Amino acid sequence: MIHRYDFGSPIHTGAVVRELPVSGGAIPYFMISREHDALCFSLSLDRDDIVFGLGEANRGINKRGHLYTSWNIDDGLHTESKNALYAAHNFLLIFSKTRCFGAFFDDPGLMHFDLGYTKIDEARIISENGDLTLYIIEEATPAEIVSSLRRLTGRSYLPPKWAFGYIQSRWGYRSEADVRAIVDEHRKRRIPLDGVCMDIDYMDDYMDFTVDPAGFENLSRFCGEMADSHAHLIPIIDAGVKEKKGYDVCDEGLEHGYFCTYEDGTPFVGAVWPGRSFFPDFLRDEVRAWFGSKYHRLLDAGVDGFWNDMNEPALFYSENGIKDAYEKAMRMKDMNVGIHEFFRLRAVFADMANNPNDYESFYQTLDGRRVRHDQVHNLYGAFMTRAAAEGMTAHNPDCRRLLFARSSYIGAHRYGGVWQGDNHSWWSHILLNLKMLPSLNMCGFLYNGADIGGFNGDTTEDLLLRWLQLGVFTPLMRNHSCQGTREQEIYRFSLQEKMRDIVTVRYALLPYLYSEFMKAALTDGCMFRPLAFDYPEDETACRVEDQVMLGGECMIAPVYQQNARGRYVYLPEDMLLIRFRAAGDYDCFPLQAGHHWIDLDLHEMPLFIRRGCVIPLSRGGEWVDAVDAKDLTLLGWIGADSAYAFYDDDGLSTQVSLADGLTRITVRCGEDDTSAHGGNLTLHTHKLITD
Ligand code: GLC
Repeated sequence: MIHRYDFGSPIHTGAVVRELPVSGGAIPYFMISREHDALCFSLSLDRDDIVFGLGEANRGINKRGHLYTSWNIDDGLHTESKNALYAAHNFLLIFSKTRCFGAFFDDPGLMHFDLGYTKIDEARIISENGDLTLYIIEEATPAEIVSSLRRLTGRSYLPPKWAFGYIQSRWGYRSEADVRAIVDEHRKRRIPLDGVCMDIDYMDDYMDFTVDPAGFENLSRFCGEMADSHAHLIPIIDAGVKEKKGYDVCDEGLEHGYFCTYEDGTPFVGAVWPGRSFFPDFLRDEVRAWFGSKYHRLLDAGVDGFWNDMNEPALFYSENGIKDAYEKAMRMKDMNVGIHEFFRLRAVFADMANNPNDYESFYQTLDGRRVRHDQVHNLYGAFMTRAAAEGMTAHNPDCRRLLFARSSYIGAHRYGGVWQGDNHSWWSHILLNLKMLPSLNMCGFLYNGADIGGFNGDTTEDLLLRWLQLGVFTPLMRNHSCQGTREQEIYRFSLQEKMRDIVTVRYALLPYLYSEFMKAALTDGCMFRPLAFDYPEDETACRVEDQVMLGGECMIAPVYQQNARGRYVYLPEDMLLIRFRAAGDYDCFPLQAGHHWIDLDLHEMPLFIRRGCVIPLSRGGEWVDAVDAKDLTLLGWIGADSAYAFYDDDGLSTQVSLADGLTRITVRCGEDDTSAHGGNLTLHTHKLITD
């Protein structure tokens, strides 16, 4: 049951796909107060309340006890004290033994979620705009609340199957030769690979939709060559359009007035990688259609995947900001710069990036109405993703394409996936990666992943190996790093064979992972869930922060500490531990519910299968198309009758349905043998453990 409450004149964000009538009567749970324009929703928190949600936000799976800010920002230092990251996913799920409800605050402006930070037993949610729609969702279980939200906000984006392959990326690949070398090195060493990302250096002078002729002489020929090697090219597209006469995107945008403007109507200028740039006003249909059509150039050349970046939008500085900064600095030039002046002077330049004054200085148009950008700030990335997705659909409505973005808002989950931004090569960021999975899933962002190995800072061999062991499960499995950091392609390391072996596990699990992903997408469910969703009565399980449920059958619990030779795991029920070393190399241990220490050498990764459940395993492959999803080995600890609903499809069509893709795999345990059946699948049962 969903109730809708409107406050002021809510901005039409496009987050929901079902128009609900506004509810009359009092708003449950929250006390509401106004302070100037801001609206405050207070809620007292009981001792046992857990607060889930907020999608791609910092800190725990249980968000209680801290402050979170919805203000999409390009901040590449994800320390524990950061309140805002790249996305605004304003959904909370309050859960305890005595109550369970969801609240979606559909407001694209600045919001604060004080979830027991100021006062440990009080949540205060503040909308600075004061205009919003609040949806209160009441269902019997957390999973049903999430499904309700997702039916309200629409079906999640479906990537092509190849997008579940391993992807190599780094800021610094400059040419066909660089990319070719990456693919060759992987193929030579039999490290599975399905794609290579092309970061900003493939462009001519960082101009969107151009290709540097010196590095990439003929993109369409090169796409063909890469396709022959079973590798997809995935170029980056940034939000800012370089200011340059004669550059068609700039010229057309100016001519038709497609860019965001200052109050006086002149185009707003901010600087990002290309230097001075304009920012398309993606809130307008005609601007999205125009920008989306530009993707066709690369699609025509054979590209079938993109990542959209810098779309918070990131601003290194603005035209006005830099002028002000120089003036301030000049005024201080002849001063005796003491300690206070020094910090002021330093701040003059340091505060130029992503400065709130800049976001208040330009305007967009939504539904024919002019709005100051800061009031709709958190929609910018979402609508860029929508522009790209609509452009791709216009190009070919029958073919799924890879698309993931940095900045997002609920609603963008219908158009693309996300990656978790510029993390660090820190052990704590493996854990952060894990914690974001269920929260992102709740908000509909099923296709997601973090930069494996860490983006900023220098990785280490063991960090990368352990991170890959989590990456095996994340829908987007991409190794990405920043220029200037230690090179982090698998083959750079002495442990490369162990790393390769772990990637082979991904390809062995691919039929299962794809099946669970698609079932979650097509039923508005979660592929990853907090343990509380599955074991609401188990108080220990409800508080677990470093293990998550995967699909209907599994639990994952990666190692995220350096030098660890294993980890403690809590099993809410009996489970079968699979300790993987490579696609065909693993052992199985039935374990009883309770606390366990699990030995895991650096090259070993755990997967837990619930007792009574079975999952399919392929023989693997060096790219997704080489994985035979019709010849499967069943793995699990089964009872007299176990079954698995296996979903598969051609991995590309957009018209998919559960009914068409499902095969029911059933397992029978006889006196002396175990047999399995499932449509036209060839099934092997020798890896099944019986009671
Ligand atoms: C941003 C992106 C990062 C990319 C870099 C250069 O920092 O988040 O992934 O490599 O820009 O394009």
